[in-house]
Amino acid sequence: MGKEIVQIFDTTLRDGEQVPGCKLDTKNKLVIAERLDHLGVDIIEAGFPISSPGDFSSVEEISKLVKNATVCGLTRAVKKDIEVAADALKFAKRPRIHTGIGTSDSHIKHKFNTTQDQIIERAIAAVAYAKSFVEDVEFYAEDAGRTDNEFLARVCEAVIKAGATVLNIPDTTGYCLPEEYGAKIKYLKEHVTGIDKAILSCHCHNDLGLATANSIAGAIHGARQIECTINGIGERAGNTSLEEVVMIMRQHPTLNLDTRINSKLLYSTSQLVSDSMGMVVQPNKAVVGANAFAHSSGIHQDGVIKNRETYEIMDPHDVGVTESAIVLTARSGRAALAYRAKIVGFELDKLQLDKVYEEFLKFADLQKEINDEDIPKIVAAANI
Ligand code: KIV
Ligand code: ZN
Repeated sequence: MGKEIVQIFDTTLRDGEQVPGCKLDTKNKLVIAERLDHLGVDIIEAGFPISSPGDFSSVEEISKLVKNATVCGLTRAVKKDIEVAADALKFAKRPRIHTGIGTSDSHIKHKFNTTQDQIIERAIAAVAYAKSFVEDVEFYAEDAGRTDNEFLARVCEAVIKAGATVLNIPDTTGYCLPEEYGAKIKYLKEHVTGIDKAILSCHCHNDLGLATANSIAGAIHGARQIECTINGIGERAGNTSLEEVVMIMRQHPTLNLDTRINSKLLYSTSQLVSDSMGMVVQPNKAVVGANAFAHSSGIHQDGVIKNRETYEIMDPHDVGVTESAIVLTARSGRAALAYRAKIVGFELDKLQLDKVYEEFLKFADLQKEINDEDIPKIVAAANI
């Protein structure tokens, strides 16, 4: 049986762009949107059209540009938001309106000062109104992570009846544990009448570093869309990282899940977003960080030189990184030195290597890292 496809809903240009200091202009957003389309994401959340004239025009221009992906605009459960989003999306080949409202006790009481029944009424009205503009309507139950499952199921059932085709279950505050989030998706699959007419979507935040784990737990329990951003950027500690969920599904065949992403474009897309937003990717970031395929300790380098798979579970080429890096430091051994020396043109026999290694350690104690340009100096100092 073929693998089941989990749709990738990229929200780099909406939730991702909410990072303070990372605002993008329309020109930059268009470059990123085009790249996301090439990358193979299923849905691009292009912005929140009512939030500003700039966001409106970005959503409009992205709608004209994108050829394959669905283009989505965010709204609150407010008529005017929905009208403005529909207008911004009018040129999209596949438009989607993403509307919703808070469903947790905390949101109902403190944000809306209302009742559960009124929240359901507002949710139904918003979905029905959005449906009068576009066929594809996604509903988000904000703070679903902290919403009682029974009430959440009632909300989901009501909005499916009103025409929602995708149900977004956000862990808005990044509070859930993977088991709990997975169980929430399972509960909805089992208790919502009409759930077969809609796709459940995971939208997880990373406040406790669990966004990726929670999204995968959701997919294991039946969600077929994951909302994520390039490099995991987003509000506070960020959103689920696109590159992580994609590679987890690809590296674990037993999950029997996959995406339509061209993983070879992951690294360059990560760099593009990082450069455009002026937000560096942490070096130890999974999949796309500068050190994700770098080996610096002697034991690991020796293993990787003998066989890459001893210390790597992914082929760097699969994510668009040209090769595993053997970084020379004072912790490196002879195998790594011989390997890099050969690359820069020095084929060393055992005796020569011993001498060069002695010199290498002296250099390495003075410098954090030995570069290829240092190797000829070290060989010269060894007098071989
Ligand atoms: O985190 C969240 O709840 C959101 C919604 C607006 C979808 O971003
Ligand atoms: Zn969010």
